[in-house]
Amino acid sequence: MRRVETEVPGQFQVIVNVPFLNLAAQYASLKDELLPAVEQALEAAHYILGPNVRELEAAVAGLSGACHGVGVNSGSDALMLALRALDIGAGDEVITTPFTYIAPAEAIHQVGARIVFADIDPRLFTLDPERVAAKLSPRTRAIVPVHLFGQAVRWDEFEGLARPGRVGIVEDCAQAIGATYRGRPVGGLGDLGCFSFYPTKNLGASGDGGMVVTSDEGYEKRLRMLRVHGIERRYYHDLHGYNSRLDELQAAILRVKLRHLEAWNVRRAAIAARYSNGLSGLPIQLPAVGEGNTHVYHVYAILTDQRDALQAFLAERGVSTIIYYPLPLHLQKVYAELGHRAGDFPVAEAVAARILPLPIYPELTEAQVDYVIGCIREFSVAFG
Ligand SMILES: Cc1ncc(COP(=O)(O)O)c(C=O)c1O
Repeated sequence: MRRVETEVPGQFQVIVNVPFLNLAAQYASLKDELLPAVEQALEAAHYILGPNVRELEAAVAGLSGACHGVGVNSGSDALMLALRALDIGAGDEVITTPFTYIAPAEAIHQVGARIVFADIDPRLFTLDPERVAAKLSPRTRAIVPVHLFGQAVRWDEFEGLARPGRVGIVEDCAQAIGATYRGRPVGGLGDLGCFSFYPTKNLGASGDGGMVVTSDEGYEKRLRMLRVHGIERRYYHDLHGYNSRLDELQAAILRVKLRHLEAWNVRRAAIAARYSNGLSGLPIQLPAVGEGNTHVYHVYAILTDQRDALQAFLAERGVSTIIYYPLPLHLQKVYAELGHRAGDFPVAEAVAARILPLPIYPELTEAQVDYVIGCIREFSVAFG
């Protein structure tokens, strides 16, 4: 907290520092649990795919309602390997959202399939199942819905899509670990579910990490082979594989943090409720919760026509924000080859132009949340 002089001489304003994320605060609160776990893992000297990974795989599979978990080295790899498990490749089409982190689209490209975008739901910002239905073709081999910002897509409608049996669903759960749809956890809803343990995620490692969960033994077997160079038996390679293994140190750290995940998600929801309560009545669109969803608020994002001005106003007052995602995927330079133009996915484009995620993490104090609310209300009065 600091005091700065305003334009009116002699008048001061209190500035509260509200970082967008605070991973150092998380570490400080867990240090006494993390260090012994790390020490134990170092002493056991398994380093890669050892007992910590196996325990974590069982735990994450369990919390997502799936039978098997396969630890890999990132959420991005989890998506790519899940598509490989489905045997998707050249000549196939995979439908996904243009409003997300780029990883699902990259995964589709990496396996050699064609990326097919469909527009998003204007309230939830997740892939719209009706738009997906319109994009299904005889070449469609999979759909990758992203449970964006911490809540499930409109799952009933995905399940109800008239899709031929060979069209798999790979859930991107990178932002939604612990979220449920009508009481069913994400990850176990589709054929395969993909998690990221990137440090900023609700369950974040101290480096990269990811996992695929599935209840299908055939996919599980393929995934276990794919992540270690396509082998089932050492030095006998049956599939074109990768080196995508989860290491013991990350798994040990994640197992400690997993004990706190539920409480952290509850705390995130309490912060979200405080924001929504404090910001109600202003000319901004607050996050909506889909019917049947338990939201784990990886992101709390508002929509406003004055997004850039509000972001600058907040920055002057010590509140950091990061815009995701400023440019939908279909308009990214890397996907120019797909031939899309502005206007192709109008909902995604309108959301990208107006979205402003606010700081949200379990260590955020109520005073900080109230300060952010106060700043936004002040902006509204001044520029409303
Ligand atoms: C929706 C989504 N999918 C996939 C990923 C990729 O995960 P990773 O960074 O672990 O590769 C991320 C985030 O990083 C993400 O937000």
